[in-house]
Amino acid sequence: MAVLYRRAELADVPALARLRQVDEGGGASEERMSRFLAGEHHPQHALAPRGMWMATEAESPIGYVAGHLTQRFGCDGELQWIYVVPAQRGGLVAAVLLRLLAEWFVRHDALRVCVDVGGDRARGFYQRHGAQELNAHWLVWPDISTVLGRRGDGGLSAPRLSG
Ligand SMILES: CC(C)(COP(=O)(O)OP(=O)(O)OC[C@H]1O[C@@H](n2cnc3c(N)ncnc32)[C@H](O)[C@@H]1OP(=O)(O)O)[C@@H](O)C(=O)NCCC(=O)NCCS
Repeated sequence: MAVLYRRAELADVPALARLRQVDEGGGASEERMSRFLAGEHHPQHALAPRGMWMATEAESPIGYVAGHLTQRFGCDGELQWIYVVPAQRGGLVAAVLLRLLAEWFVRHDALRVCVDVGGDRARGFYQRHGAQELNAHWLVWPDISTVLGRRGDGGLSAPRLSG
């Protein structure tokens, strides 16, 4: 079954917020995610522009990524949340979502992008995609455009965007 990718709208948030198990990182409550996307909740040092993308299979959401422009740690952008349902991990979905967010950052001239690795389990994923240590809790892409040019991701150059 094909996986489709598109920009997430406010109306998508309830379904996306339900994907995450309670003990997992990578997201927040429906209310917090809605307020983030609507520009009513501002993570520290966040600027107004923000975006969220989602992946669906057979019209069911299977993952999402969200980010915003920021001034935190001298960065231009921050990856706020990324989540992929367990059955879809270890494949291309997370990498394609990261790429869609990276494209948006590049379009906004936001090249230095940081991410809070929180519980640490996703550290390997980010580092494999070029992020480097910033401090105990944060990683940074000094230039997120490198995500767009990485080798070995031939299938990622043209994700199937719908909507
Ligand atoms: C982070 C995530 C999007 C990566 O997608 P993926 O398809 O699993 O990506 P990859 O297969 O390339 O990478 C797997 C890495 O994620 C880690 N991972 C696996 N399950 C995880 C989980 N429940 N939570 C966090 N990380 C997990 C694996 O340990 C692996 O790290 P390693 O390579 O150092 O062993 C996905 O694992 C996920 O949604 N995790 C839960 C939400 C989360 O932790 N988001 C990040 C918050 S900082």
